[in-house]
Order: sequence, then structure tokens, then C-alpha cells
Amino acid sequence: MPVATAAVNIALVKYWGKRDAALNLPARGSLSLTLDALRTWTEVTLDPALGHDTLILDGASQTGKPLLRVKAFLDILRAQSGVKTFARVASKTSFPVAAGLASSASGFAALAVAGAAAYELGLDARTLSGLARRGSGSAARSLFGGFVRMDAGRMPDGSDALARPVVGAAITLSAAIAVAGSGEKEVGSTDGMESTRESSPYHRAWLDQVDKDLHLANAALRGGDFALLARITEGSCLAMHANAMAARPGIVYFKGVTLWAIDRVRALRKSGVPVMFTIDAGPHLVAMTPPDHLDTVAVALAESPEVQRVITSAAGEGAKLIDAMPTEVAR
Ligand code: PMV
Repeated sequence: MPVATAAVNIALVKYWGKRDAALNLPARGSLSLTLDALRTWTEVTLDPALGHDTLILDGASQTGKPLLRVKAFLDILRAQSGVKTFARVASKTSFPVAAGLASSASGFAALAVAGAAAYELGLDARTLSGLARRGSGSAARSLFGGFVRMDAGRMPDGSDALARPVVGAAITLSAAIAVAGSGEKEVGSTDGMESTRESSPYHRAWLDQVDKDLHLANAALRGGDFALLARITEGSCLAMHANAMAARPGIVYFKGVTLWAIDRVRALRKSGVPVMFTIDAGPHLVAMTPPDHLDTVAVALAESPEVQRVITSAAGEGAKLIDAMPTEVAR
């Protein structure tokens, strides 16, 4: 029974828009950092006695949307392998799944690795990234550790929409996440992207900017230019949110505390701490800083009573097979 573990990742250059919704192909590339502390472990057991797939998440049997997404993903594995057997999927996470902390990234990366092994597909990490992408676009990036580049590709079948590690990065970053609420996000990323594409007058400009940002972020990483990387990262985040806000009806993921945290990060930087922020499709700000400064940044973000907790993480490794599920997971 194969078991895999995968960590979440946070994008510095954001993915927001699809070129093919059915195959889940991104319209542009993206760039991320894999985060060690937020992690999923998944075991996939094929069982000929099962009449349908089952999913247990942190001990609770799942129905509805989470189970349907996993079933759809297992259908792809069954189609590729020719093996029709249903599967029992058991997952554990090191963080609350409903809080909107990119759980689909670690979830589908771990499911791709354990599932491909269970159905004996024999795929390499890059091909697995394309498979993980079918579950969630950002999951493709969790196949690799450190800084990761996702390519949009050009092929209609998506065979070149794969992730790869960035080689030669001269910057090391850790992350502090200011958890700003525990509710599920109101507009999921897929719906948010589609409605932005259909109705935001800024969407074209956003797409044009992504390639420039990827080029500059890559140069900043290789050249060790922290200030440039911070400029691109914060610019990409704010442009993504501006684009979503310009959809009709506008999509606002920020809460008051998100704006407070943006100010706090910028004040820290002004005082000499090398730190940058980004925010996904939710209210939580993620500050990124060299490991030496992580404690300072985490303490500063915890100053607001509206920040429920600050989760810190070093950069992590890519998804991989392991021997067994962990017996206990610290949260
Ligand atoms: O992987 P998805 O479909 O949940 O989309 C992720 C979208 C963002 O997290 C907002 C940006 C990104 O690049 O991760």
C-alpha cells in the first residue's frame, strides 16, 4: 500500500487563469516556494472488494465535493493504467484543511505520487507534476522542493504543462503565515479564475504581465537580488488580487487584518528586515524572509489580535513515497 507525503507551496509569481478548464491547463506559468511545515500524508489502497472509492481525511469519512474530486482524479489513474479497481484513500494533514491554506496543492501532489504507485504507472517526477495538475493547478509545483517553476506549455493536450525545480537560486527563504480566519473561502480558486477571465477588464493586462514577472523573478533568484524579488512577488500578488477585484461581481479575498499585515511587512522592511509578502485566494498573508529573520517576522505578525496564529516553515522538499503513514501528526 503506497504512502506518499507532499508539502504545500506558495506562489511568488501567481497562477490566476486557465487556458483549458477541462484539462486544468494554466494560461501562464508560475513560480513558487515549497513549504515544509504544511504537509499531507496519503495512503492509497486498491481493494477489489470495494464498489466505489472512499476517502478518509484526518480520520473523518468524506462525501460530497472532496470525495468527488478524489474520484475524478482516481478515474484518470484508472484510465491510464487500465486497472479498474476502486481505491481506499486515507489522508492526514499537519494543518486545518478548511482554512484555505493551499491544502489542494499538498493533497493532490501526495495523491498523485501514492496513486500512481498503487496503479503501477511508473511515472517520473515531471510527469507526476502534470498528473497532479489535473487535481489542482498549484499541486503540480509541490512535486519539487525549494523554488519551483510551472510552465503553461503550448500543447492542446497539456503534455508540456509541467513543473520543474529552479536551479541556481542564490536566495533562501522561509515563511511565516499569518492565519487570519478559519472559515472556508467564499469563492474557490477555479470559480474565481473563471469569473475573472470572463468579466475583469484587467485580465488581458494581467496575463501580459506574468511572463515579464517570471523572467525578472528568475533573474532576481539567480542573481541574489532580494529587493527585485520582493518587488516582483508583491507586485504579482497585488495585481492578481486587483484583477480578481475587478471581476463583476468583484472578488475580495482580503480582510481588514490582511491590509494590516501588508503594512506591517512593509514597515519591517523599512526598518531593515529583508521580508516580502504574498497572499493567495484567501485572507492569510504569507511573509517570506531569510531563515535568520524568521523569528522577528513571526513575532511582528502575531502583534494583531486578529491574527489567530502564525505558522512558520522552512523551505521543503518535493513530494515522495515513504514507508508508512505517521502515527501522530503535530499541528
Ligand atoms: O491550485 P488552484 O487551482 O487552487 O489555484 C491556485 C491559485 C493561487 O493559489 C491563488 C495562486 C497560485 O499560483 O498558487
